[in-house]
Amino acid sequence: MEIISKIADLQARIQKFKADGKKVGFVPTMGALHAGHASLVNRCVSENDYCVVSVFVNPTQFNDKNDLQHYPRTPEADCALLEKAGCSIMFMPTVDEMYPEEDTRIFDLGSVAEVMEGRYRPGHFNGVAQIVSKLFAAVMPHRAYFGEKDFQQIAVIREMTRQLQFPIEIVSCPIVREADGMALSSRNTRLSTSQRKNAVNISQTLFKSRTFAEQHTVTETIAYVTDTLNTIEDLQVEYFEIVDGNSLQAVASWDDATYIVGCITVYCGEVRLIDNITYKV
Ligand code: PAF
Repeated sequence: MEIISKIADLQARIQKFKADGKKVGFVPTMGALHAGHASLVNRCVSENDYCVVSVFVNPTQFNDKNDLQHYPRTPEADCALLEKAGCSIMFMPTVDEMYPEEDTRIFDLGSVAEVMEGRYRPGHFNGVAQIVSKLFAAVMPHRAYFGEKDFQQIAVIREMTRQLQFPIEIVSCPIVREADGMALSSRNTRLSTSQRKNAVNISQTLFKSRTFAEQHTVTETIAYVTDTLNTIEDLQVEYFEIVDGNSLQAVASWDDATYIVGCITVYCGEVRLIDNITYKV
């Protein structure tokens, strides 16, 4: 595995791969890699001739300075995981390399970016679109891989890819969970032992809500999940919305869409955790 930090060097390597007629897959990450990232890398390696993984904590997508400051950074462990997974290039640029000047672009990503995370984290998706468009322009992969834990992010990136006409296939990959059901996240490392024990209720309540939903309305299911979690120590639900899985707009009834997903954000102490569950496909 090569470790590259300059865009020009990355482009030179990738041009060579493409000149040889090879397929290039790309996994953008912010590091602190875990088994969820490994599953994206494994899929990327299996579906392409070369797999490029970026590790870059993007400052423009953090609307909370404290969150940026505390975001876990584990470059040595990331390198070992990627080497083992068969990654061809680990791209680890500096902030100056990605942002030699301030990125003043404002994206209009439409209604998929306005709800949920868009409402609670103003500017977040604009920052995601800034960095992912820069990374796409640098790597120009055939395929790019994203995890479904960030369900809304995938819809936003698909929209950005469509608007900017990148000829890149966006591949979404299932959430990877711990044995007890907790969705893997780099932020989980910030939880204390007791917070981690309480946080498992997020996924467990979502799973139980599937059965609950069979006999109850959308509104009752939202109340069930929110009220259950808010009674548990350390947990405070920021939002739980049940939405059309394509448009991401809230549904009022189970008949309103053929694909329905529940998306949740919960604070566990100071750590902001997200998860989602599919009710109907
Ligand atoms: O999902 C993430 O880790 C980030 O939002 C991404 C896509 C790497 C952009 O910084």
